Amino acid sequence: MPSNPSATTAAAVPASAGSSHAAARGPSLKIALTGGDGIGPEIMDATLELFKAAGVMDAAAPGRAAGIEFIPVEMGRSVFEKGNTKGMTDEAIRITEDCGLLFKGPMETPKGGGGKSINVTARKMWNAFANLRHFRTLPGVQTVYSKAGIHIDMYIVRENIEDTYGGVEHRLSNDMIQCKRLISAPGCDLVSRFAFKIARQMGIKKVHCGHKANIMKMTDGIFLDRFKVAAKDFTEIEAADVIVDALCMNLVIKPQQYRMVVLPNLQGDIVSDLCAGLVGGLGFAPSANIGRHISIFEAVHGTAPDIAGKGIANPTALILSGLMMLRHIGLLREAAIIENAVLSALESGVRTGDFGDPAKPVLGTKDYTKGIIDRLGQKPTTITPVTVPETNPAAPASAPVPRPQATQVIRTFTDVVRHVVGCDIYLDTPLSPASVAEEMQRCCEDTPFKLTLISNRGTQVWPTGSAYTECVDYYRVRFELREGSRPGDFGQSRCVALMDRIAEKFTVCSYELLRVFDGVKGYSLAQGQ
Ligand code: NAI
Repeated sequence: MPSNPSATTAAAVPASAGSSHAAARGPSLKIALTGGDGIGPEIMDATLELFKAAGVMDAAAPGRAAGIEFIPVEMGRSVFEKGNTKGMTDEAIRITEDCGLLFKGPMETPKGGGGKSINVTARKMWNAFANLRHFRTLPGVQTVYSKAGIHIDMYIVRENIEDTYGGVEHRLSNDMIQCKRLISAPGCDLVSRFAFKIARQMGIKKVHCGHKANIMKMTDGIFLDRFKVAAKDFTEIEAADVIVDALCMNLVIKPQQYRMVVLPNLQGDIVSDLCAGLVGGLGFAPSANIGRHISIFEAVHGTAPDIAGKGIANPTALILSGLMMLRHIGLLREAAIIENAVLSALESGVRTGDFGDPAKPVLGTKDYTKGIIDRLGQKPTTITPVTVPETNPAAPASAPVPRPQATQVIRTFTDVVRHVVGCDIYLDTPLSPASVAEEMQRCCEDTPFKLTLISNRGTQVWPTGSAYTECVDYYRVRFELREGSRPGDFGQSRCVALMDRIAEKFTVCSYELLRVFDGVKGYSLAQGQ
């Protein structure tokens, strides 16, 4: 019998790793619930039917001090259609904040203009800072790896708040659009520490940090640095790092070498879909968005508009996300029983059309779910079953999660000596680099600053550059202190005065202060500088 190393920990999100939920007890634990759009309602109905059959909602089940009450909330397309650009009603927000837990189906994101993704808004607004995604080989789910006898069992921990997902975008000139990539030290600390904590609780011995710090030396650089700092408190776990492009290749060639990888938001999003592909597709990828106060459980996949309403969607990913949630709140017994039933059904060839042995019949969502319900109480025989505890060690939490008094400011570095050494000013102009240089040198006469660099799309084009570098209509001009001045001799107001002078003649799109932090440059060099 091949071993299933994740059997007792699969999809477990120890409550203590992120939120304060497991502490309180009471008669009924309330969870905000929304089916979502597209296939969402179909797979949510299937999941709830299974949960009901497994007694998850029973208040008086053995070993349980509380039942679960799902409180429906309105989010998604129907709310957008009423003109609410948040995509969730005020009542939905209040109920979710009172419950501290949201179980949700996928939601459609309006394309292009209009409302932003609710999924992203919810994670960010409620600071669900870590997105834990579990990918593993499942019986009956054939992949090139399962056929080759390669067992995959790994977690992606994706930073969930920052990065380009800040959605801070601007049109800067006729031809240039910008998306700001924001990475903070506290944001990095939260996600790295969460990863090491759950790795410790799951007995995972090695955690990788995936990054692109060789190119984005400051943003990915701090992500990697804070990962290494967090690792020092978890000495029994080996901490390693891997550049994200190499990670993608390694995952395809030898996926079994990874157990947990922590990544910034966008890279984590892309790599986790890659991992879903390794284990049979999005139909098997569950996720938990863990925050200090509010946690959100959902499948990785979207609304699958191409199959919505046909009754053929695969509910497994949402079911497995629900199991992450049950474990998060301490319902280990129910989660284990359901997981064993899912594994038994899969190994018996119960399947929807998106996976499985073509020789076995394709079932619709309802019959597939029935196939799992019929196996409640059974255990898989081809892999090690999940150990079912006699009782639940902790009753579900029921007290409302204490609401923070006010928005908190989280900080990592506080005592830092910072000095202004110059500024980068960004111009919307179609002039040539030489003409821009001539104008800028005139503007900075009689100021503490001299022109030191002009770059275009990040590449230096003045004082030296290549005739082969093509420029667009948006420049960065860099001014630094003249010889004889020291960092700190002049403050920000002199930079603003310089910008004002330039703005009399040019369109200034934005400016960034150049500073040294404890003597270290807080800005990057241009390509070719
Ligand atoms: P998608 O994940 O909805 O679909 C990609 C492909 O996978 C489709 O062929 C679909 O049929 C298939 N698929 C997905 N889930 C399946 C399931 N459970 N059973 C069987 N087949 C399944 O991705 P897509 O098409 O890029 O996005 C559709 C919408 O979903 C968009 O509006 C997007 O913004 C939204 N979305 C929402 C997410 C969320 O709520 N967390 C996550 C990802 C996308």
